[in-house]
Amino acid sequence: MVKHKLKNSDFLSLKHLDGDDLRDFLEVAHRIKKEGTKGMRPLVNKAIALLFEKPSTRTRVSFEVAILRLGGDPIVLSGEELQIKRGETIEDTGRVLSRYVDGLVVRTFAQQRLEVLAQVATVPVINALTDECHPCQALADMLTIMEYKGSFEGLKLAYLGDGNNVCHSLMRACTKLGMEIAVATPPGKEPMEKIIEESRENSQVYGGKLVLLNDPLEAVQDADVVYTDVWFSMGKEAESEDDTQLFAHFQVNSELLRYAKPDAIVMHDLPAHRGKEITDEVIDGSRSAVWDQAENRLHAQIALLGMIFSG
Ligand code: CP
Ligand code: NVA
Repeated sequence: MVKHKLKNSDFLSLKHLDGDDLRDFLEVAHRIKKEGTKGMRPLVNKAIALLFEKPSTRTRVSFEVAILRLGGDPIVLSGEELQIKRGETIEDTGRVLSRYVDGLVVRTFAQQRLEVLAQVATVPVINALTDECHPCQALADMLTIMEYKGSFEGLKLAYLGDGNNVCHSLMRACTKLGMEIAVATPPGKEPMEKIIEESRENSQVYGGKLVLLNDPLEAVQDADVVYTDVWFSMGKEAESEDDTQLFAHFQVNSELLRYAKPDAIVMHDLPAHRGKEITDEVIDGSRSAVWDQAENRLHAQIALLGMIFSG
């Protein structure tokens, strides 16, 4: 049962959840979305710190609201305003914050930085995005796909662009749910080797499939879901116009969507760079699931916090 696995635990990636855990989780999140939190108050008298070393709109606000809905007190901390800025280590910060608060939601750079923090923290630590993965995003993404498509088996998701944190968490989630994920990146922008290996192993166990390509049209062919993200993640901004040119053929536009299934949906974790990785016409068009996807961050995180802090 996923509830038992998550209870009082860190949530640092999707690596340790199996396919059944993900399905259980999504059922709970879906129910919470439909029925509301119905007196769920696991965070009464609890404070949760949200420590962000990178900007955020969705993750920060949806976690703040989720914590409030569950009866808790969110405390937002920017890395810029903490002693981290003057060289205090993340470990010492985690040790001290653990004495004040009941949980830590952390957005940072290297996955290793999150993991060393989690090792010394004595309260649950939740990954709110690292350079390596964005597991809370993938939970909301899978909830969105479940709502639009009904089930996962046999579905094909085409991910176009940079083989980044969002791509990595999608690779893990799709291959555990028995989906095909076709990842198309420019050469040199492929996902990390260790996540490729892990996703291939998942595919063997759960009947999913991972296809790695450099051709966006081939990836989108007959896809049920077309997904893109920024070409340059936070902390890895484009250095030249040539960098941007690398991705030019990977734009999700109406022309490209003609290759997908007629009922394909379009997803983007946001923030979007309109006119770069996605056109206005597509993000604002009838196939866009983007706003429901953004809303689902809230429902998925209420479910997640509910399980971690259940009495
Ligand atoms: N998708 C997402 O994580 O958005 P924010 O960076 O605004 O939190
Ligand atoms: N890949 C993006 C995701 C933003 C939510 C980034 O890391 O900037």
